[in-house]
This record gives sequence, structure tokens and C-alpha cells, in this order.
Amino acid sequence: MSRPAAATAFRKETPESLLENLMRVRATSVSLCDPLEPEDCVVQSAPETSPAKWHLAHTTWFFETFLLQPFVEGYKSFHDEFAFLFNSYYESVGSFYPRKDRGLLTRPSFASILDYRCHVDTQLTALLGDASHPHAGDIAARCTLGLHHEQQHQELLLTDIKHLLSRNPLRPAYRERGTDPAGSASDVEWLEYPAGVYETGYSGQGFAFDNEMPRHRSYVEPFRIASRPVSNGEFLDFLDDGGYGKPTLWLSDGWQTVRERDWSAPLYWEQRDGTWWQFTLSGMREINAAEPVCHVSYYEADAFARWAGKRLPTETEWEIAASERQQDGNFFDDSRLHPKPCSGEASFFGDVWQWTASAYSPYPGYRATAGALGEYNGKFMINQQVLRGGSCVTSRSHIRTSYRNFFYPHERWQFKGLRLADA
Ligand SMILES: [Fe+2]
Repeated sequence: MSRPAAATAFRKETPESLLENLMRVRATSVSLCDPLEPEDCVVQSAPETSPAKWHLAHTTWFFETFLLQPFVEGYKSFHDEFAFLFNSYYESVGSFYPRKDRGLLTRPSFASILDYRCHVDTQLTALLGDASHPHAGDIAARCTLGLHHEQQHQELLLTDIKHLLSRNPLRPAYRERGTDPAGSASDVEWLEYPAGVYETGYSGQGFAFDNEMPRHRSYVEPFRIASRPVSNGEFLDFLDDGGYGKPTLWLSDGWQTVRERDWSAPLYWEQRDGTWWQFTLSGMREINAAEPVCHVSYYEADAFARWAGKRLPTETEWEIAASERQQDGNFFDDSRLHPKPCSGEASFFGDVWQWTASAYSPYPGYRATAGALGEYNGKFMINQQVLRGGSCVTSRSHIRTSYRNFFYPHERWQFKGLRLADA
């Protein structure tokens, strides 16, 4: 999956700092494969996931296509067929290999992909080092976009690996992790906001995807929003109350999905001798009641909220509350790769993406970027729901208060949870 968005704003970095950041991010992508066996990097476990090898190649294709080809005079592609194999969905730049079949690409080899990355990195270094290039501003902007695109794929690589390893009866661990003490989540504090006209959306001088803009006003009725996400312990109460078997709690599409897919718990949960366990990137772990519930669909989030007598917040409500909070939290940088138990602090960032009640749609005045990069975001603004806050596999430098993630309501393989709101 790839979802580049157009950079219509970006921090004015020096070419040296941008190059340093870029190469650090590029190296991180490769290092994510260090714990993997070569076979792990090839297989695709679901149509919506991609092999690790494909992620490494596709992010490289992005730089080659949108930076090297337009801005390096006489640039010759590393391989003529790679554009077909590693273009994700950019109709404007040519045809592409079917997404669902990416796991069939045993060739090119992993070593060839690393050669591809090395070739493109060398060319990028030279391009960014050319301060007199007549398009230096555009190059810096697209390089920044490519960096954030690569960070998106780092998260996808980890979530796709988790899905892949979960399908193996050996339940292999990606990375070992210590255990947390069992306990309960902190009490929920209800944060209250009065009715009024509020501004949301991005308006700073740093990088933001085009779907976060323009900043705009909304009238909001009075609301309350929970200080932390819903915990595993609370979600277990929903299970124990027969929540998955009560059609009146579910949206029609959700109930149909529950029945067709035989859902009875979040993804990766399984019951052994009366105890609930879950698959994690550190292998099978007993459910910790204090952690945020994770890997639930929009349908499950909505049903839980209805069962609890609450609702999901709109993305505007979420952003109003989150804009008053520090962007601290448990991110990829913390190397835990799993949600942390809910503490007493109000927490909006990290751990789990939070479903909102808002459909993914353009803000008033939204304009997609011209050209092929306009395909990054705008064409996906249909039938998906917005999620906010980032997760334990999101890079800290990648998230913003205005950041809008989006997924189809039935999808569960990302680190997705929920927080409650009410009027
Ligand atoms: Fe992508």
C-alpha cells in the first residue's frame, strides 16, 4: 500500500540536513529487515499487505520517478521493468503490476533491490548536493515528500510483517520484548469543550500532506472526549457481554462483516484454556488489560462505543482536544513496537491510531497538487474513515496534530484502536 501525498508546505532545511535526514530514513528502512529471514521478505499474506522486499523497492522507485528522472539530466533507469513492478497506483506515470500478486515476485532478488537502493541513494546524494541546480527548491520539496512517504512505508512494512508472521503456526517473534506488570488502565478523565467555532487543519511552515489543508473553521456543539483510548480490559467486558453477538449494536455493514468473517474478538486475539492471548511482534502474549485495545475495525470501534453508551469523536473534536497536548507517547522510535499500558496522563499520540466518526473527505477549499503527485491523496477520498494520533510503529517525526490517516472500515491489520466521546 502506498499513499504519498503532495507536499505543499515543507520546512526550509539546508541541503545538508535534508540529505542527512533522508539517508537516515533510508537506512532505517533496510534495518527493519535485519531481524527477518530472506523468505520473510518475499511472501505476501493478504491482498492489502505487501512483501518487505516490495516496500524497499517501491520507496526507491518513488525517488527515481519523481526526483531523478525529472531533475537529473540524461538519467537512465536502473532497470527498465522496475517501474512496472514497483509503481503502486500512479496511473499518470504508467501501468503497474497487480497489487494482490506482489508476493509472486521472487525476482528481482533481495540483493538486487539493495543494489537498486544503493544506486538511487548515490544519485540522490549528488542531486541534493548540487546547490546551483535551477530546480533546487522543487527538489528539496519532493525529497521531503519522499522522506515522509518512506516513513509511511516503514510503518506498513512492520504491520505487514506482523500479519505475515501471525499466519505462521510457529508464531515467530520479530523482536523480543520484556513483559509489563499486569494491572488496570488509569481512570478515564472526560475533557470538556464548549460549543463554538474552532479552527483545524495544518497552517505551519513545516511539511504536511495536502489532505491536512487548508486550515478551516467548523462550528462544533459542546462535547466531551476521553483522556485515553479504550483499554483491553474494557473491550473484554464488551466480549464478555456478548457484544459480537448482538446485532443491535452494529452498523448493518459491520454486522454483515462480523457474520461473514466469523469475528468474535479483535484481530490477533485467540483464547487458550479460557485465557485471551494476542499475537504481537514479540510473539504470543497474554492480553494485558491495561493496554489500549488494538487491531479493531471501524465497525468494532463503533459497536463498542454504542455498547458503552458513547460514540466515536469526529476528527474535528479529536484535533481540538489533541492540539492542547504534547505529541509525546509511544512511537516506533521507542522500539517497543507494541502499545504501552494506559497511564494517568491524557494521551492522544502514539500507541494506537484512533478511529474517528469522520469520513475521509476533502476539507473546504482542498486542492490536490497538480500532476502525478496529485494522485497521492485526493483520489482515495471515498468510503474510508479517518484515524488520528499515530501508533507504536509510527515514527515520532512523522506525526502531527493535523495528520489524517485513512482506512476502509473493515480493515484491522494496522495498529488501530479507539477513544470515546459524548455530547
Ligand atoms: Fe507508496
